[in-house]
Amino acid sequence: MVSTSLPGGTWTLGDLTVTRFGYGAMQLAGPWVMGPPADHQGALAVLREAVDLGITHIDTADAYGPHVTNRLIREALHPYRDTLHVVTKVGATRDDRGGWPPARDPASLRRAVHDNLENLGLDVLDLVNLRLGDADGPQPASVAEAFGTLADLQRQGLIRHLGVSNATAEQVAEARSIAPIVCVQNMYNLAHRHDDDLIDKLAADGIAYVPFFPLGGFSPLQSSALSAVAARLGTTPMSVALAWLLHRSPNILLIPGTSSVAHLRENVANAALALSPADLAELGVIRWAGSAGESTVDPG
Ligand SMILES: NC(=O)c1ccc[n+]([C@@H]2O[C@H](COP(=O)([O-])OP(=O)(O)OC[C@H]3O[C@@H](n4cnc5c(N)ncnc54)[C@H](OP(=O)(O)O)[C@@H]3O)[C@@H](O)[C@H]2O)c1
Repeated sequence: MVSTSLPGGTWTLGDLTVTRFGYGAMQLAGPWVMGPPADHQGALAVLREAVDLGITHIDTADAYGPHVTNRLIREALHPYRDTLHVVTKVGATRDDRGGWPPARDPASLRRAVHDNLENLGLDVLDLVNLRLGDADGPQPASVAEAFGTLADLQRQGLIRHLGVSNATAEQVAEARSIAPIVCVQNMYNLAHRHDDDLIDKLAADGIAYVPFFPLGGFSPLQSSALSAVAARLGTTPMSVALAWLLHRSPNILLIPGTSSVAHLRENVANAALALSPADLAELGVIRWAGSAGESTVDPG
């Protein structure tokens, strides 16, 4: 049982109750998500603060570092509170230039699940997302073999729940025809709203939508409308961006990333912001014009 005063309340992923305000651990690794953090103790402090604030949903991947964020999570938080759910993803690895080559053949996926179990210090992974697509985003391709492999690992008891990431609507549907999913994790924020229809469909079906890059990722969201609303409300654009996502749909779960305890506290404190119909209308016109928010770096 999770009762929370965190913004947005809670959501249930299968049989796991999580706070809608979660934490994304990717930014804890070194530059461009490679290698260790500059401040090891600082990274541990962020993770411990997230849990102390009441966050029960941490998003990670063994590709972050690689292995760095999972090992930080284990060092900071193991043994885990019963209420804490660490969500990971498989389907990409890292090359020596920091790229994210796909690794979705059955052997790679099985190895990745076992690596996640070992690095997180777990016997069962609560939720594993199959990471699809590439640097340009979701790409059409069958997910049958890869998702079927994860469904086998689920049947073997190594995974509780499944999701997909960086996926097209067709891939979401194909995955659901193979095994139930509890979430879709795609890029989405105030300025990147190509998944609007998918979010509404998933909401109707009781499936969570977890936007990655909720604050713009490697390049922060920038928009005059966002700044104007933030100034009027006496807060920051980041706070408005998070509050807007919570308003957008009840199935949206937040996993903003930060390597800073101060930013984490600020994000939690401010995301409860009430947005009026006028604020929402003003924010609703924001669309990505190709100059801000998008990253040239392959999403993690
Ligand atoms: N499925 C996928 O393919 C995929 C891809 C990318 C990411 N993800 C997941 O999504 C999570 C979120 O994405 P993300 O962390 O890359 O991007 P994000 O949450 O959109 O933005 C993180 C950036 O915002 C900054 N930030 C956070 N709070 C701030 C504040 N209050 N004031 C100023 N700056 C602030 C952080 O800098 P500071 O460190 O300085 O606070 C960091 O640079 C990741 O952690 C990861 O778990 C998944």
